Amino acid sequence: MQKHLFLGTISGTSVDGLDIALLAVEGRNENSQISILQADTIEFPDSLASELRALANPSQGELDRLGYADATLGEFIGQTCRQFLTTHSLHPGAITAIGSHGQTVRHRPGKAGENRFSLQIGDPNRIAEISGITTIADFRRRDIAAGGQGAPLVPPFHKALFANTDHAVVLNIGGISNVSILSDTPSGYDTGPGNCLMDEWCQQHGHGSYDADGRWAASGTVIADLLQCLLSDPYFSTPTPKSTGREYFHAQWLAAHEPEKFAPEDVQATLCELTARCTIDALVRSAPHLGEIIVCGGGRLNSNLLKRLRDSSGWDVRSCDDLGIDGDAIEAAAFAWFAHQTINAQPSNEPAVTGATGYRVLGAIYPG
Ligand SMILES: Nc1ncnc2c1ncn2[C@@H]1O[C@H](COP(=O)(O)OP(=O)(O)O)[C@@H](O)[C@H]1O
Ligand SMILES: [Mg+2]
Repeated sequence: MQKHLFLGTISGTSVDGLDIALLAVEGRNENSQISILQADTIEFPDSLASELRALANPSQGELDRLGYADATLGEFIGQTCRQFLTTHSLHPGAITAIGSHGQTVRHRPGKAGENRFSLQIGDPNRIAEISGITTIADFRRRDIAAGGQGAPLVPPFHKALFANTDHAVVLNIGGISNVSILSDTPSGYDTGPGNCLMDEWCQQHGHGSYDADGRWAASGTVIADLLQCLLSDPYFSTPTPKSTGREYFHAQWLAAHEPEKFAPEDVQATLCELTARCTIDALVRSAPHLGEIIVCGGGRLNSNLLKRLRDSSGWDVRSCDDLGIDGDAIEAAAFAWFAHQTINAQPSNEPAVTGATGYRVLGAIYPG
């Protein structure tokens, strides 16, 4: 009978170290014979043990919130998938798999040698349980483990989606903006803030959750000195591979530049210009020969921002909706495609983008 070897590891609640065991399994199912061949307990380094003990202390309420949000979001995603199928008269059995990115609650891609991680929540166990559909999640961490940034992941998908066109730069303006430059080996990176700073400034000044159509920004004047200060942030001149998140570009980042000294609408105009300028400056460096940008993500609906992109670059800046592709659908479709890749044991990352040491099959599979 064929013998298969498995390794198991656990660190128990006493946080004394990692237990590891080697198990041999002969045969299948109820007739299988199991034997423990080797086992060991390896002490944690002191710094790791104290970190883990501190996290296990329930007086730190953040972890309870993390666990609760992870579970609640997973249920919400599972129920949304079911409802979506009902709405579109599809049976769950018709779907091969769900690719769930989840919500990023921390993205710290760091530099080589630093502690680097990215944390997405939205329990895939619950998605699989509620939908009955095999669910793939946790797409970023394998790339990070392979030395990459875990982001942006989307350029190979942009390449596949726009394969039949000659469009060469795709700009996704979400909270953070990222570009894909579609050559044989696609390149790409996060350019910096997309809508996130404009959204926060709007919310702080009672102008709703975002600047609809960029009208408020259009009513102000760009403050040249403030813009220069913001553009001097080292992120913008950091070489690729690079990615960022809202833990970097947030209200406090802006607050450090004392924006309250200026008229709020002028600050909004400056933030809108910042999003345009940091994108164009980066593209001029990395893809100077390209004269056209296809824009997707919510920021494509900000016509003032699109105008600023056009004015800064002189390039043809168009929404992907003009090509018949729904600009709100692309990011989610990317994770459906990554699920397809994972199910077929194909890689999803592009090492030239993320900086990983190689192509990797991303994500973990939770059977339906
Ligand atoms: N009509 C609009 N005018 C201006 N901005 C808009 C409009 N609609 C959406 N947005 C912007 O798009 C954002 C959402 O974009 P989205 O691509 O979903 O970002 P993310 O991927 O970060 O969730 C909103 O927060 C808002 O800033
Ligand atoms: Mg969104």
